[in-house]
Amino acid sequence: MRRRARWLKREREEAERVKDRDLFKIVDEVFDSITLGHLYRLYSRKVLRELKGSISSGKESKVFWGVSWDGSDVAVKIYLSFTSDFRKSIKKYILGDPRFEEIPSSNIRRLIYEWARKEYRNLKRMREAGVRVPKPMAVEANIVVMEFLGEKGYRAPSLAEARAALDKDEADRIARAVLDQLELIVCRARLVHADLSEYNILLWRGEPWIIDVSQAVPVDHPNAREFLERDVRNIYRFLEGIAEIGVDEDRLLEELESCAGVA
Ligand SMILES: Nc1ncnc2c1ncn2[C@@H]1O[C@H](COP(=O)(O)OP(=O)(O)O)[C@@H](O)[C@H]1O
Ligand SMILES: [Mg+2]
Repeated sequence: MRRRARWLKREREEAERVKDRDLFKIVDEVFDSITLGHLYRLYSRKVLRELKGSISSGKESKVFWGVSWDGSDVAVKIYLSFTSDFRKSIKKYILGDPRFEEIPSSNIRRLIYEWARKEYRNLKRMREAGVRVPKPMAVEANIVVMEFLGEKGYRAPSLAEARAALDKDEADRIARAVLDQLELIVCRARLVHADLSEYNILLWRGEPWIIDVSQAVPVDHPNAREFLERDVRNIYRFLEGIAEIGVDEDRLLEELESCAGVA
C-alpha cells in the first residue's frame, strides 16, 4: 500500500512537472494527473515531444495530433473512460482472452489499459500482415501513439467524407482496394476488425487506410463469425453505393469465412 502511495505521489509530481514545462499546453485541463503522468513518460521515453491539437473527441477516447522527437507528426489516441454501456458491450470482444479474464470488471483503469494495449497489438499484427494501418509507435497505459494519417495536423478524410469528391474510376479503384484490405485483415492477419465502416477507413495518399482496431478479434474468437458478417454487410452496403463491385455479397462472405476457417 505504501509503495502504491509513493508511486501515486511520484506520478503526481511528474504530472506537475509536465505542467511546469508547459509541454502539453493545450491539454493540461483536459486530463487527470495520472494521464498527464503517462504523457510525461512518453515524453521521457523520447516518443512524444509535443501535443498540438485535438482531432476527435469520442465517447471512449480522444485523438490528438502530436509531434514525435524526430519531428514527425503522430496521432495520439487516449482512452479516458468507459461508459457503462461500453463496459457491457466490451465483454463480447474479450471473451476467451486471458489478458482480460484476470481483471475484475470493477477495475476500469486496468480494463482501459488492456484495451489500449489491444489496439496497439492489433495494429502491429495487421501491419505485419501488410494491412494498410497507421504504424504503431508506442503504448503507455491508456495512450496509443501511432503514425499520423494526414498533413500538417490536418487528418485525412474518412471514406464517408471523401465519397462525394470521387469520380467513378477512382471510386471503383478504391472499392477494390478496400476489399483487398479486408482480405488481408482476415486471411493474413487472421483478425476480424469488428467495427469496419466508411468512418473507420481514411483516404490518404490515394489509398484506403484502416483505423480504430481496438475491438478487432482473432478469427478463432467465439464471435468472429458474427462480427465478420456484420463487417461485410456494412462495408458492402457502402461500397455498392459508390462503385461497381465485381463480386456479390454472399460470395465475398463465403470466401472470407472459408479463409478464416469459420465457414
Ligand atoms: N492515425 C490517425 N491519423 C489521423 N487521424 C486519425 C488517426 N486515428 C484516428 N484519427 C481520427 O480520429 C477519429 C477517431 O479515431 P478512432 O480510432 O476511429 O476512434 P473512435 O471512433 O473509437 O473514437 C477518426 O475518425 C479519425 O478522424
Ligand atoms: Mg472510429
